Amino acid sequence: MRISRYFLPVLRETPKEAEIVSHQLMLRTGMVKQASAGIYSWLPLGFRVLKKIEQVVREEQNRSGAIEVLMPTIQSADLWRQSGRYDDYGKEMLRLKDRHERDMLYGPTNEELITEIFRDGVKSYKDLPRNLYHIQWKFRDEVRPRFGVMRGREFLMKDAYSFDLTADAARQSYNRMFVAYLRTFARLGLKSIPMAADTGPIGGDLSHEFIILADTGESQVYCHADLVQTTVPGADTDFDADLSPLIARFTSDYAATDEKHDAARFEKEVPVDKRISARGIEVGHIFFFGTKYSDPMNCRVQGPDGKMVAVQMGSYGIGVSRLAGAIIEASHDKDGCIWPVPVAPFELGLINLKAGDKETDGACDTLCERFANAGIDYLYDDTDERAGGKFATMDLIGLPYQVIVGPKSLKNGEIEIKERRTGMRQTLPLEGAVSQLVGAIRSARQLA
Ligand SMILES: Nc1ncnc2c1ncn2[C@@H]1O[C@H](COP(=O)(O)OP(=O)(O)O)[C@@H](O)[C@H]1O
Ligand SMILES: [Mg+2]
Repeated sequence: MRISRYFLPVLRETPKEAEIVSHQLMLRTGMVKQASAGIYSWLPLGFRVLKKIEQVVREEQNRSGAIEVLMPTIQSADLWRQSGRYDDYGKEMLRLKDRHERDMLYGPTNEELITEIFRDGVKSYKDLPRNLYHIQWKFRDEVRPRFGVMRGREFLMKDAYSFDLTADAARQSYNRMFVAYLRTFARLGLKSIPMAADTGPIGGDLSHEFIILADTGESQVYCHADLVQTTVPGADTDFDADLSPLIARFTSDYAATDEKHDAARFEKEVPVDKRISARGIEVGHIFFFGTKYSDPMNCRVQGPDGKMVAVQMGSYGIGVSRLAGAIIEASHDKDGCIWPVPVAPFELGLINLKAGDKETDGACDTLCERFANAGIDYLYDDTDERAGGKFATMDLIGLPYQVIVGPKSLKNGEIEIKERRTGMRQTLPLEGAVSQLVGAIRSARQLA
């Protein structure tokens, strides 16, 4: 992609309304634009990041055996009356009427809808276990939308729902999602820590929040320092095996969010030098809630003994749009974003220092062709802006690698490459630079 043909509305000034760095950088790099309070348009650069995050989430859901569906954003109030939540949910739910005066709502979550789908489609225990998920916009009329996409009113969520015959089997479904979450966040370049959590309005008795430690996080959290280092299960994890020993590695050390925190236990179980008390960003949340919805909504299957039993359910959310902000919080410096390769809007940025010059234009065209053939996403700055401005923009948008083509080094057949994260620069012959970059990018894509 050439910048001269792209839509990249970069701001030089930091917008005053943005309090935290991810919100500032998302506005400055033109990733998003506020449409109204807590509601954002995703502009080209931000849209690419969102789609890449979504794809990593999808791949790990699929790997764990979950099946993708797509449910609507608008739901009927009647469905929520069946579960009793229509009256309980309160002002966070956006309620509307259609032209026939029927009560509708913009879904804040999908337990009711998925329970109805499952109830009407499955009759026997032989069709269990199943896990269905979708990646869809939600609306919650938050009292205080803030921090940009971190706490929006309209936001993109991956939500999965598991169905099992017994509570023991449901625990295995829970464990599968637990592992999928660890892998998802690791692939996004994040260190997530599962923490015992309150179940909130969704209810139930088993729940973990997946937390990224960051000063700007909205939650106060407490955990054992070793949890930050625990190795995440690999891509070869067998999701049909008993995952409980794996889960135990992440749940035996103390980790809790504010609502579940027990100061006495924390001090007893965690040595002083291992105590982390910090702020955290909730990027995922998993719940087991048994028959909370299947009972009132009559979602039953025939068991092996012929008797009808209510299915055991769990639900599992990931804040897909929140993650775009969370990744920036975890990975930036004073000059801008530092995107990990798997979610970078483009994998490298090519800078032509003398656009219009036959030699540099020619070399850049050759490089574009090489990158395209190698399947690398690149952004080519072919504008006639001055060098300083081009460098600042590239650093700001934070593509993992930069390739700089100027007349001086090109005389020797050389170009410069820069790694955004370390700032390390190297001057290399053109072909050598290409193979080094392609190798580095390909291996970084595979991570975790
Ligand atoms: N207002 C919001 N804006 C952006 N992401 C959100 C918002 N609310 C929830 N999420 C994301 O969706 C995930 C699942 O939501 P859930 O746990 O049901 O919400 P909450 O923790 O707000 O009750 C959360 O872990 C979070 O990552
Ligand atoms: Mg939550």
